[in-house]
Amino acid sequence: MAVQIKVIVCGFGRVGREFARLIQEKAELMQATYDLDAVIVGIGELNGSLHCPGGLNPADTADAFEREGGFACHPGLKAAWQGLDLVRSAQADALIETTPTDIRTGEPALSHIREALGKGMNVVSANKGPFIRAYRELTGLARKRNASLKISAAAAAALPTIDVAETCLAGAEILGVEGVLNGTTNFILSRMRTNGQSYEEALAEAQALGIAETDPTLDVEGFDTANKLALITNVCMGADLTPDDVERTGIAGMSLEDVQRASAAGKIMRLVGVSKRDEAGRVSARVAPELLSPDHPLAGVEGAEKGITYTSDTMDRVTVVGGKSDPRGAAAALLKDLINIYRHTSS
Ligand code: HSE
Repeated sequence: MAVQIKVIVCGFGRVGREFARLIQEKAELMQATYDLDAVIVGIGELNGSLHCPGGLNPADTADAFEREGGFACHPGLKAAWQGLDLVRSAQADALIETTPTDIRTGEPALSHIREALGKGMNVVSANKGPFIRAYRELTGLARKRNASLKISAAAAAALPTIDVAETCLAGAEILGVEGVLNGTTNFILSRMRTNGQSYEEALAEAQALGIAETDPTLDVEGFDTANKLALITNVCMGADLTPDDVERTGIAGMSLEDVQRASAAGKIMRLVGVSKRDEAGRVSARVAPELLSPDHPLAGVEGAEKGITYTSDTMDRVTVVGGKSDPRGAAAALLKDLINIYRHTSS
């Protein structure tokens, strides 16, 4: 008999809705391959939440939410509940956190995650804010409650980053990280180079595709790259960086001439995040547009793809490239984390 996982989702934006659809689309595969049956029993939103202890139809609920702009017509509506009320009240095994990121406060996700871990629930988050603010506190709380906490979707989503370091590079000391970690800026720079599009045209296309953040300044000014770099560096190199510790230059307003001049010189411009440990053990990090030689491992990361290179003491340079930078890719990263928490739990 498959292990049933009762899931609540906080935040029902594009990523949350894609996650709901994916749970339905992948139900057979999850049963057949992992012996798992994930059921969504609640969805937390600002203007009222759903609570359906017997489970809800995920795809229909996502469609209805898009049509109606909320849950008004759903029988499970708790009009006065926000996400935190749902986390407190629902009997669930796992929280999927997809509310919009607030890097400064981490809220409301930070409160949702504290509450969920406090109840011993497992947590899978696409939201970076809580981990930028309180990574050590939250991992400590998870350990204390014997709960799992996974954040692939917050750390470049469909591109495996933390998983690679923790699993494939286990036992190696990571000395440095280099990453093209933001799909929007890489899409813009790629379109400018290969199609001769202006910065504004390429940004508008990235927004239409749902790659860019709601506020694209976070992408183009390098904040998103700095946030992901800080997260990955803290987890994989045991550092304690805040995004403010990351020196940052973005690509806002980059001219076509700059990109084309780089191409003419045989270089490829990408927004790269770099962190490294110096001989005294200090970790420093920066984000800036860089001119890469064609033989650099991140030079071939095209369009909305991302890439990361780890340098370690025993395995040298390891690079991973690819992964969709869109809501479905982010939802797939959430599903991956959920499966990996529960995959060996059936008897
Ligand atoms: N806007 C981000 C990107 C996705 O372009 O990669 C969420 O982090």
